[in-house]
Amino acid sequence: MTMDKPQVAVIMGSNSDWDIMKPAVDMLEKFGVACEARVISAHRATNMLVEYAEGLRGRGFVCAIAGAGGAAHLAGVLAAKTTLPVLGVPVPSKYLKGMDSLLSTVQMPKGIPVATFAIGEAGAANAALYAISIIAVTDAGMAQKVADFRKDQEEMVRNMKLPPT
Ligand code: RP5
Repeated sequence: MTMDKPQVAVIMGSNSDWDIMKPAVDMLEKFGVACEARVISAHRATNMLVEYAEGLRGRGFVCAIAGAGGAAHLAGVLAAKTTLPVLGVPVPSKYLKGMDSLLSTVQMPKGIPVATFAIGEAGAANAALYAISIIAVTDAGMAQKVADFRKDQEEMVRNMKLPPT
């Protein structure tokens, strides 16, 4: 989404997932992490997904966030086709409210891991924070930003008044 070389790929199974996945992009932007957001479907554009996954490491990405709903195979197939860390976000679905997305993303058989986050926007934001933490392993400036972010959250809670206004 920025002109810098993207470090994190944010992919989703449909453009209908955007409202849920946008918090991931927003969080990455808040920390100054360049990302590439794309729609790629595991079942409707499988070849495209495989090609994209296989190119990620060579293009210099650090990790990929994948959000999908229903019988969600996006994160699993992506993880099967890249050695980069894959962070899965279960997108809420119409009838099962994302429980289907959660189980199909989190229950990866042994051998191909997907780090799975909460259903919905919080999961998307946390996936981005996790991606940022991965970058912060070798980037002291980014680690400081994470520490500052956590301090701000603590400060916010300390200032909370009851009843809420
Ligand atoms: C999944 O099916 C997508 O990730 C989305 O959550 C869901 C519905 O897709 P659309 O029918 O809205 O394109 O593949």
